[in-house]
This record gives sequence, structure tokens and C-alpha cells, in this order.
Amino acid sequence: MLIKKPADIRPSEITGQNLYANRRRFMQGAAAATLAAGAPGLLGFAAQAQGKIQLPPVRKSLYSTSEPMNSFKDITSYNNFYEFGTDKYSPAQRAKSLRTRPWTVKVSGEVKLPKSFDVEELLKLASLEKRIYRLRCVEAWSMVIPWIGYPLAELIKQVEPTGNAKYVEFTTLHDPDQMPGQRAIFGSLDWPYVEGLRIDEAMHPLAILCFGLYGDVLPNQNGAPVRIVVPWKYGFKSAKSIVAIRFVEQPPVNSWQKSAPHEYGFYSNVNPTFDHPRWSQATERRVGEFFKRKTLMFNGYADQVAQLYAGMDLRKYY
Ligand code: MTE
Repeated sequence: MLIKKPADIRPSEITGQNLYANRRRFMQGAAAATLAAGAPGLLGFAAQAQGKIQLPPVRKSLYSTSEPMNSFKDITSYNNFYEFGTDKYSPAQRAKSLRTRPWTVKVSGEVKLPKSFDVEELLKLASLEKRIYRLRCVEAWSMVIPWIGYPLAELIKQVEPTGNAKYVEFTTLHDPDQMPGQRAIFGSLDWPYVEGLRIDEAMHPLAILCFGLYGDVLPNQNGAPVRIVVPWKYGFKSAKSIVAIRFVEQPPVNSWQKSAPHEYGFYSNVNPTFDHPRWSQATERRVGEFFKRKTLMFNGYADQVAQLYAGMDLRKYY
């Protein structure tokens, strides 16, 4: 972002081109051995070899795209995470020191069972899946990322929303001591970072609560320890490092809407026919590619999500 300035997984997606380092190679081999040993559908305890934070077993998902994934390096070194700076390369450097344990996510508002979840508990609430999704940033670049998570709906069901819960608000950590971008005086956002979804959007099976990517826990710069991923919307809807989820009656005002209401709306569905006031949304450049490609309506997920917006004027509700 710029602030006021210019069906089925192919086996090759699980191994092969994704091998980033020898360590990773070793772990994938171990996962393959697990499969061979009779645990079909599980990608294994890949993170266990890594150190303290471990991911439970991860399943393949039918919701994944079969497009080639971006490299681990691209995904973890070209980031938008304004809490750690406004350029793409700072988050990888500056987020290293973010403390992601202990971490609590407070779920409150219009729910029958409000609760503060320790992230370890949250991680085990439902079975993890590898979801290979396209991410289309509003700045007209895109990537294909193998996220690890489970449907947000699984968490929502646990807390039993009341009839007044029409929207869900997500709030990111506010800690200027740890997040240098929150200490910046100019050219930044009003903190904390806030995002919102309509409750039926949040319940849609494509919307996930995300804890990892490739085979491991989320790197800090990608939103550790927990973020959401909403693949049919511009990337900024996928809030990182979430500490609070609140169920509300009115649409939350998200951070980008607050900063530039004429440029960013509540819905922010990927829409190649409706340009950003300062640039076209018709095409995008996949990170690592030279030529631009056409952007697809709802980022290519129209078959799954278009019915959520039936009858709505998407130019008005941008
Ligand atoms: N979440 C927080 N808390 N702060 C941010 O600046 N940037 C958003 C989104 N989530 C952002 C955020 C934007 S603009 C994008 S494109 C995606 O994160 C990028 O996610 P990635 O770095 O994992 O690719």
C-alpha cells in the first residue's frame, strides 16, 4: 500500500520447487516418510525439527490453487506490515524481535461465550490445512502463498455469536516498543491496525485463521503468531498479528478506510473493473514475474464468493 504518495494440489506443489533450504529438504523428506508409513493426507510435523514452536499435523486442502507458488524467500522478504515500516523490505528485518509468545487473542462483543484464547489453544481448536491461495495486494502485485490454518468459522462457532453479531472486527497488536512503525510521526496509520468483515464473509470456508506458511509457523513479518487470510479481497483485509476479535452490530472502520476514505472502502473485494483513484486494478504483477497478468474478479474466487454480494452495487460498496 502507498500512503498518500505515489481443486487439487499437484504433488509438485508439496515438494520439488518449494524446497528452500537443506533443512527444509530434510523435513519434507521426513513428511514423505510419514505419508509412506500410512498417514495419508498429513504433511507431518514439519516444524518439530525447528525449535520451540511446533505446528500440529497439517492436511492438504481442496481449496488450494494449482498455480506455482512463490518462493519462501519472496513470501518472507517482500511484505506489507506497516507496524515495521512502510517499505517492503523492512518487516523482514525489523519484525525479528517481535515476541510472539505468550500471546492471547481476546474474543468478545456480541457472542454468548466470550473468551480470551491463548494462541496455543487457538492453534489446536481445529485441524490445520495447507491452503495455497493467491494474494492480490491493492498495489497491483500478487503472490501465491501456501498458508497453514483452518476456517475462521471454526473459531466463530465456538463462541456462539448472538443475533446482533453482523460484523467481525480484527485488531492487531499495539505495542510501539516492539513495533517501530507505530512510533513514526509521519506517513503512517492510526494504530492499532483494524480490519473488518461481514459475518457471512468471516464464516465463508475460504476465510482462514492462519498460523503458518510452507511447513512452519508464520515468520514474524507475515503476521505471527496468528493472522487472517481472506483471498478474494485485497491483501490489506488480511490483518496480521491479531490480538482481538470483536463481534459487532455496525461495520467496523478499517485502518485504510480511516486514513483515506475516498480510496479504501469496507468491502475491498478484488475488482479489476473498478480502479483505485490513483492506479488501475485491471492487471497485476506476480512477484518474480516480468509480464503483467490480468486480475480476476474476486481474485479468481468468484465461483465461491460472488453470491455473497448478489444484488449489491460493487462500485458503491467498494
Ligand atoms: N496487517 C497489519 N497488522 N499491518 C499491515 O500493515 N498489511 C496488509 C496485510 N495485513 C498489514 C497487515 C497488506 S497491505 C498486505 S498486502 C498483506 O498484509 C501482506 O501480507 P504478507 O506480507 O504476508 O504477504
